[in-house]
Amino acid sequence: MPQPTREDRFSFGLWTVGWPARDPFGDATRPAIDPVESVHRLAELGAWGVNFHDDDLIPFGTDGAERDRIIARFKAALAETGTVVTTMTTNLFTHPVFKDGAFTSNDRGVRRFALRKVIRNLDLAAELGAKTYVFWGGREGAEVDSGKDIAAALDRYREGIDLLAAYVKEQGYDIRFAIEPKPNEPRGDILLPTLGHALAFIAELEHGDIVGVNPEVGHEQMAGLNYTAGIAQALWAGKLFHIDLNGQRGIKYDQDLVFGHGDLLSAFATVDLLENGAPGGGPKYDGPLHFDYKPLRTEDLDGVWASAAANMSTYLILKERAAAFRADPEVAEALAVAGVAELAKPTLNPGETVADLKADRSAFEDYDAVKAGERGYGYVRLNQLAVEHLLGAR
Ligand code: GCO
Ligand code: MN
Ligand code: MN
Ligand code: MN
Repeated sequence: MPQPTREDRFSFGLWTVGWPARDPFGDATRPAIDPVESVHRLAELGAWGVNFHDDDLIPFGTDGAERDRIIARFKAALAETGTVVTTMTTNLFTHPVFKDGAFTSNDRGVRRFALRKVIRNLDLAAELGAKTYVFWGGREGAEVDSGKDIAAALDRYREGIDLLAAYVKEQGYDIRFAIEPKPNEPRGDILLPTLGHALAFIAELEHGDIVGVNPEVGHEQMAGLNYTAGIAQALWAGKLFHIDLNGQRGIKYDQDLVFGHGDLLSAFATVDLLENGAPGGGPKYDGPLHFDYKPLRTEDLDGVWASAAANMSTYLILKERAAAFRADPEVAEALAVAGVAELAKPTLNPGETVADLKADRSAFEDYDAVKAGERGYGYVRLNQLAVEHLLGAR
């Protein structure tokens, strides 16, 4: 099996391996893990970076002196292991104060408290060198349609993100924001439920230039969407600032499985896009390869570390398979038959106008639509080649 190294740029949320596996139906099945231990264990496994919520490191309500002590101890672990803090985020969902949301709570005092909680942690993010700050609005939503004015909630969401982005700019912090969509859970319906909603929201911001998205595999799949196609659109928009890799099996509760333990063929396509780029070129993702998963509740602590390793191993295997797929002459031929490269060619000729198009009889009057309709694109063969490479049969 390929061994991960720091050059692979893998990172993990401290809340992933550190999840004690408490769920709505059952108690924790594992002890909490000290974040300092997680940093050491992840580094030993070959990870490069970590990401965490304020409360993952510093429990909610910790006083100033204790907070400083915790941060100093954590910094020592980072230095000892050479671990990078790639990303940070705010817990705006666990404490009861956030039960109706944070930036979009109907309660104005809650909204002001949420902004202060983020500002405090942004200062720490700048100190620790995090380049990305994630906003996952798990409690920004509703169960009762008449209880939430969605337009007003979006106004308040925009007010909050713009205020925080302006703060980052004023302070001169080298930080960009990444909004993480999710359709539901814990709220019945969450605002900015999909990547597309998030992109549309970002377009309405005053400081949208430093705001992008952090799409999670399972969250798009919970909405029945194609993750790879979604991140391709985010890349096209110049907005893929971060990714949360994991696995999900269909439209159900958020499973946060190990990467590749859900829709494996989709995971192959995701790695192919991340590593090799779109066939027609365009921007490539260069952020951390971040895993946001949960070790199954059935696992003991050995199982936790085995599952962390499994994410990286699966990614690296898929990377090898995707490289072989792209290098295969039969694949090149199948891509040519499908006309994949032709899509990168503009539909109009250079300088051609609508009037020229209208005057071009070959485009319409003399166009043989029946013959063009008979063409086969050979996508099934192309997909079978992908399956064979994925299975290691080629
Ligand atoms: C989820 C989310 C969360 C967020 C994380 C960052 O699985 O519902 O992915 O894990 O990514 O909390 O705020
Ligand atoms: Mn999730
Ligand atoms: Mn996530
Ligand atoms: Mn998650």
